[in-house]
Amino acid sequence: MIIDDVEKILEKPSFSKKDLLYLLNTSEKERTSLFRKAKETKGKYVGNKVYFRGLIEYSNYCKKNCFYCGIRAGNSRYARYRMTDSEVMEAVNFAYVNNYASIVIQSGEQTNKTFVSKVESTLKRISQQTEGKIHVTLSLGEQSEETYRRWFESGAHRYLLRIEVSNPKLYKKLHPNNYTHDFQRRLDALKTLRNVGYQVGTGVMIGLPFQTLSDLADDLLFFREFDIDMAGMGPYIEHVDTPLYQFRDELLPIKDRFDLSLKMVAILRIMMKNINIAATTAMQTIDPQGREKALMVGANVIMPNLTPAKYRHDYLLYENKPCLDEEAEECKSCLEARIHMAGDSIGYGEWGDSRHFHERSASQ
Ligand code: 5AD
Ligand code: SF4
Ligand code: FES
Repeated sequence: MIIDDVEKILEKPSFSKKDLLYLLNTSEKERTSLFRKAKETKGKYVGNKVYFRGLIEYSNYCKKNCFYCGIRAGNSRYARYRMTDSEVMEAVNFAYVNNYASIVIQSGEQTNKTFVSKVESTLKRISQQTEGKIHVTLSLGEQSEETYRRWFESGAHRYLLRIEVSNPKLYKKLHPNNYTHDFQRRLDALKTLRNVGYQVGTGVMIGLPFQTLSDLADDLLFFREFDIDMAGMGPYIEHVDTPLYQFRDELLPIKDRFDLSLKMVAILRIMMKNINIAATTAMQTIDPQGREKALMVGANVIMPNLTPAKYRHDYLLYENKPCLDEEAEECKSCLEARIHMAGDSIGYGEWGDSRHFHERSASQ
């Protein structure tokens, strides 16, 4: 019986590539077992609490030209912006007053001196004005070791840098072929972040053109091998202003990309029991209940948007992004309702650090 096969795999202490392929391929019927096990694992190892990371989309300037992304340097459709200091502090203050305890500062990739110093001074100000109560995660792309250190010493303790795809050949197909878009360089940046002392998060897009189930299984093995602390994964969503748009007819139907993303979350929760996994915004783009569904199969982090609404239309990495006209307050109450519907509670006032990170550090 097929169901028995799934159950047998789910009992294994460690999944092989073959097991992963089986799990990624599970039918609608079989996957109930996978999802049940993932839910159980979440409850047991990280609890049924969801941690908020207030998302500040700091700037949409980007020096890169990733073939999938709407804010790539080559796209002139969007007005480029950088939030002012007072806008950033207003968003931080919203997080502080509402007990979010944690924020993410994200932006297109910029490495110039002005940008690096600006981020440094912003971090110091956040730390001072919130008396160190707000934990900061950065998601600002590939930087030099010195920059990563400066930001770490100024108060940032977590960093998200998606590997995007862990297969170097596929990486090449999705990026221009030059030094700023080099797979090895990105991998080295992840290693540097680990050495500097950050809690390191990475992730991939799911359902990209040319991507196979075997690639996704390898992505999961990559996460385990790298021993990541946090993960953020979501479906690839085509954007009309990007080179990859020409392959839109070759993609999996959008619902299948969503289902695969859910399976990736569930499998990863079972493989890496105590890491933090985000229920990403891209999941909600496809399914109105996408984030709740991700929470029910293992995700435990959500990123309510704190970017001023006037900038949101210019931070469209992909199309149909939700929450474009909602201000922070609206996203807050919307998410509260959604999380309760998923049967979880919110870890207000808690940093919600990666347990995996602390357990690894304690054992070293
Ligand atoms: N669809 C889905 N996710 C995307 N990202 C960029 N472009 C897209 C897209 N078209 C993701 C990348 C990046 C993160 C900030 O957004 O994985 O790391
Ligand atoms: Fe820039 Fe990131 Fe978009 Fe690539 S994915 S173009 S680095 S914002
Ligand atoms: Fe922004 Fe629902 S999370 S409106």
